[in-house]
Amino acid sequence: MIDSHDPITETVVGVGSAAGVRNDGRPPAVLALPDSPAALSLPDFPWDSLAPFAARAREHPDGIVDLSVGSPVDPTPAVVRDALVAATDAHAYPTTSGTPALRAAIVDWYARRRGVRGLSTDAVLPTIGSKELVALLPLLLGLGPGDTVVYPRTAYPTYAVGSALARTAGVAADDPAHWPASTRLVWLNSPGNPNGVVLGVPALRAAVARARELGAVVVNDECYAELGWQPERWGATANDERVPSILDPRVTDGNHTGLLSVYSLSKQSNLAGYRAAFVAGDESLVQRVLEVRKHAGLIPPAPVQAAMVAALGDEQHVAEQRERYRARRAVLATALESAGFRIDDSEAGLYLWVTRDEPALVTIATLAEYGMLAAPGTFYEGESSQHVRFALTATDERIAAAAQRLALLYKP
Ligand SMILES: Cc1ncc(COP(=O)(O)O)c(C=O)c1O
Repeated sequence: MIDSHDPITETVVGVGSAAGVRNDGRPPAVLALPDSPAALSLPDFPWDSLAPFAARAREHPDGIVDLSVGSPVDPTPAVVRDALVAATDAHAYPTTSGTPALRAAIVDWYARRRGVRGLSTDAVLPTIGSKELVALLPLLLGLGPGDTVVYPRTAYPTYAVGSALARTAGVAADDPAHWPASTRLVWLNSPGNPNGVVLGVPALRAAVARARELGAVVVNDECYAELGWQPERWGATANDERVPSILDPRVTDGNHTGLLSVYSLSKQSNLAGYRAAFVAGDESLVQRVLEVRKHAGLIPPAPVQAAMVAALGDEQHVAEQRERYRARRAVLATALESAGFRIDDSEAGLYLWVTRDEPALVTIATLAEYGMLAAPGTFYEGESSQHVRFALTATDERIAAAAQRLALLYKP
């Protein structure tokens, strides 16, 4: 047992000589921790700032229409739930690398849905949702001070958080020509959150070429790849051009060196609560990441691994969910345009990225007056943003309510 004189205790607590270290068995008065999270230079958690707008929107007599977060509202498909239930006897530790069945299912999914053939089962790895991987990847790759992590200018904030956690420099830059010589990791996000931008094969090739000049890893966060909305482009049927993966042979010419694709089942399969995602690509990088994750105990639970196999093997529920979102998107897009919004980008994904050419928070305040909540672009591209992000993750009834309220908002 460790008592208060144990040198381990003394190295953990105590400022200077005796401060904080007590010999009476009571906890120390002062912990010698840095001011966290400020010491890590983490941004404020932005969603807290929406509370007053949410409170105002909730005053609407027919309740709030909350389109601010991309959290699925439709049920987890039965095929996935049944697989989870069948796997609840999980007495043994799960494998960090994933069960053989899961690794095979991921390899098979890349071949079937993404046109990426020939991945080895050692080149794929399950993660506990993808947010933790996004936040930890710079650390898992051993990056630190002196290194630079690049991410899109309009971006999901966790790329910058991951850079801060590793104490690397974070640079928001889309043009590969602007990536500095110290770049060691480049985050791409196609289709993008919040703006639904899709990077085609030429853009992905340009990113890979520049990153290879710099000796940097390129990771594409691809969790919206099954949700393409352009007719005959970024679609999902056999005749459509699919949203390309960073591992697409037209991008890689068959060479995966330095390339990783990150995918999540949260959105396509309505199982955000399960925490189910994976990374695939350069086998040596995947194995490096696996090594650290084994030490750190970053293991998806065994029942979730079983559920992932079921989700990856069933295309029907993904197609049904896509059609639900397609219908909601059509209703919302029409209502937004009729109300004087311009829809920018939004070629794929779960969001409509819109503007009224006014500061984002002015739009958010107006929406709140009409009982609606959306996400301000300030969360994704800085204070000067004039965009607002509407998520498609609401019931048909709430989307219809949004359309009615938007009709009232229009002033010619
Ligand atoms: C671009 C992007 N990456 C990663 C995630 C995290 O997804 P999850 O942790 O549910 O897999 C999200 C969630 O919204 C996202 O939008």
